[in-house]
Amino acid sequence: PYSVYESIREKGVLVRGNIGAFATCDHELASAILRDSSRFGSFAIAKAKPIDTTVYDDNGERLIVPMDDSFLSMDPPDHTRLRRMVAPWFSPRAIRERTATIETMLEELLDDLAAQGEWDAVNDLAVRVPIRVISAFFGIGEEDFELFRRWGGIIGTSVDGIRTMGDLKTFRQMLIEMQEFFGDLIELRKREPGNDLVTFMVQAEPEGEPLSWHDMVATCGVLLGAGFETTVNLIGNCILTVLSDPDLRQQLIDSPELIPNAVEEVLRWDAPVQYLLRVTTEPVTIAGVDIPADSPVFVVVGGANRDPKVFGDNAQEFDLHRKNSREHLTFGDGIHLCVGAGLARIEAAATLRVLLRKFPDLHLADGAERRPTRVVRGMTSLPVRPGAGA
Ligand code: HEM
Repeated sequence: PYSVYESIREKGVLVRGNIGAFATCDHELASAILRDSSRFGSFAIAKAKPIDTTVYDDNGERLIVPMDDSFLSMDPPDHTRLRRMVAPWFSPRAIRERTATIETMLEELLDDLAAQGEWDAVNDLAVRVPIRVISAFFGIGEEDFELFRRWGGIIGTSVDGIRTMGDLKTFRQMLIEMQEFFGDLIELRKREPGNDLVTFMVQAEPEGEPLSWHDMVATCGVLLGAGFETTVNLIGNCILTVLSDPDLRQQLIDSPELIPNAVEEVLRWDAPVQYLLRVTTEPVTIAGVDIPADSPVFVVVGGANRDPKVFGDNAQEFDLHRKNSREHLTFGDGIHLCVGAGLARIEAAATLRVLLRKFPDLHLADGAERRPTRVVRGMTSLPVRPGAGA
């Protein structure tokens, strides 16, 4: 996609497409739009979908769509109220406490994989890390791994916009299953409280009132929807980048303290989320362009992350020693800035750290496959093999 972004950049800071949508690859403007949540709303995103994805259960009740019905797509004050609920679970302290658990799990997983000659860095490794982390939020073990993995895949594809009736049917079935699953979990935590985020939500009374069932289900759903495929692809893109360049791999083995830089630069250079969507809530004039109300605006994060005005002449290159990789917009900006950013960073860094320590001679094997999706960028399959040279 990166050459397409450059052609958008050549056309101007804010470009109008043929269907009345606008797009920007300009870092400064992208950031300004994401921070201007009153004129560039998230709530209105549903209006910009290719087909109406409102779906109902067998009793005619509208099904909860995590990405649309959670605080991810709300504007203040609802956004603020619900985001505050989950924020303590993502504090630096909470994340630090989680790091050791993640590393232990990775050690065990990679010991098991060591017994196999060749394995898949996405399907045998990357998917397991965020699923373990998210399951811990719900206070459950890995027993629902396959379920979460299937749902995560369907959500990851759906953010491109559902285009066929077949996909809509699959999506509806998933929503029914998910609503039932989280509904049962909420009931269970009411009866048997645990030390997890669901119990916390069940017991909370922000502003003197308990959370609605609808908000709790949507919040559980968004943690899975926003925290799973994104992180799988970050981890996959990190492994692909590092194993594609033997010098880089060696530098990280010699100086593991550089691993967080490598993760940050992968986030910038090959972002697992390539663009975000906003819809104007009123007519807006910005960067000299008049945008009517209700217009979709694509904030092309993958392009903004390579803006030479911010990242210099070598913006297109991967640079382990880049000083400002962290200025990327891969986690968004403004009020919706990813609440799981710190967690995603440590999940990816821990995976690279344990992987390179256990398999210093790991290399790519044949058969890598790229994901066909446009919003989520990464690999569906990444075969790897320890041993001398590819
Ligand atoms: C929001 C990206 C990992 C939970 C966002 C947004 C982006 C993003 C771009 C803002 C969306 C918008 O403005 O429309 C990513 C990427 C990740 C990642 C690239 C991994 C590499 C996670 C993880 C979790 C998570 C691990 C939790 C387990 C959320 C939630 C929101 C969010 C709940 C909504 C925040 C809000 O609306 O205030 N993420 N995310 N994300 N992310 Fe992440």
